[in-house]
Amino acid sequence: MLGRVNHVAIAVPDIAAASRAYRETLGAMVSVAQALPEHGVTVVFVELPNTKVELLEPLGETSPIASFLAKNPDGGMHHICYEVADILAARDQLVAKGARVLGDGDPKIGAHGKPVLFLHPKDFFGTLIELEQV
Ligand code: CO
Repeated sequence: MLGRVNHVAIAVPDIAAASRAYRETLGAMVSVAQALPEHGVTVVFVELPNTKVELLEPLGETSPIASFLAKNPDGGMHHICYEVADILAARDQLVAKGARVLGDGDPKIGAHGKPVLFLHPKDFFGTLIELEQV
């Protein structure tokens, strides 16, 4: 079911400081910050040869990463995103095997303009999983 790792997302309290650390200390290519109000985050993309890392800073009062950062004030790995060819088929297989899909269970359009779903971290060893149809 799973394809490539599309991205790893890291929640950070200060995206400017995190961008500097990735650019200047780690020597990575870091995009300019984009505010995504409909997703409640500001994001930068760290481009790597085989995948990308997204740095996420909360945006707005109802950011979906606010509670994570309240528990992890220094920041931390928030989710990993795997690619799937058919997100509805993947969802139906997962649900049939007892995995829980967050929200109403229907794919939403994610930060890259593609359909995404999130799987409950308690079903996957404490890690929030995003599936993205590519
Ligand atoms: Co993501």
